[in-house]
Amino acid sequence: MMNRLEGMTAVVTGGASGIGQAFAARLAEDGADVAVADIKSCEQTEEMVRAAGRKFFAGECDITDPLQVQAFASKVEETMGGCNILINNAGIFPLQPFDEISFEDWKNILAINVDSLFLFSKAFVPMMKKNGKGRIINMSSTVYWLKIEAYVHYITTKAAVIGFTRGLANELGASGITVNAIAPSLVRNATTEASPLAEMFDAIPQMQAIPRLQVPADLVGTLSFLVSDDAEFITGQTIVVDGGMIKS
Ligand SMILES: NC(=O)c1ccc[n+]([C@@H]2O[C@H](COP(=O)([O-])OP(=O)(O)OC[C@H]3O[C@@H](n4cnc5c(N)ncnc54)[C@H](O)[C@@H]3O)[C@@H](O)[C@H]2O)c1
Repeated sequence: MMNRLEGMTAVVTGGASGIGQAFAARLAEDGADVAVADIKSCEQTEEMVRAAGRKFFAGECDITDPLQVQAFASKVEETMGGCNILINNAGIFPLQPFDEISFEDWKNILAINVDSLFLFSKAFVPMMKKNGKGRIINMSSTVYWLKIEAYVHYITTKAAVIGFTRGLANELGASGITVNAIAPSLVRNATTEASPLAEMFDAIPQMQAIPRLQVPADLVGTLSFLVSDDAEFITGQTIVVDGGMIKS
């Protein structure tokens, strides 16, 4: 359904690459203007968004730094006129056995994967409240339900994303703002290709009802639905998109 987000502005964290880039492109195809917060260059994403005929804003922003997040939010308000949709997508997922995780590693992954959701929601919810409507989507992961080793810190953060999603949904429902999460399984992209996770590329599809590796394009339809008016009565949920690996 083209243009169903006409007149909306979407903010995507970590939209310079991977899943966030696919999200930014799809939101633009659906009619939204897009602002991306990332520490990497967003040139490619900008091309995609502009090719769809939408406005684009890239703010170099470390999403763990409250001052940078606030400065980014002010710029978005100034240049894009506010925000209707927030996609808390950026995250890191280094494989590290528990014995090797330092307290610095622990604080760093918590800051990127969890604190940033708090900071971005604090910055953008007031803009959504002004509009009487809004959508927040957070990225969790199916690792929360699986037996995967060397991921204590990552599993902790992705469980926290589910808790944050439920808690915030409870408080924002009356303001017309929904808060949901998407939980993919292993997704093939440049980051996973370059990580030891690539060793699981052959095994993972055999654990799924749909026996092929997930790619970012498999997630964009769910995102598009959740941010649309069609999903206005869905909130506090974590939608698993994993080719049928987890059977609930
Ligand atoms: N790839 C997978 O297999 C997979 C599976 C389940 C869930 N996820 C989740 O999906 C989300 C996106 O994953 P991806 O595979 O696209 O990752 P990716 O590495 O391809 O992209 C992440 C983006 O976040 C940005 N980023 C990282 N730290 C940042 C910081 N401090 N400030 C600003 N930007 C920062 C990076 O520059 C990058 O552009 C993450 O939350 C991840 O946990 C990924």
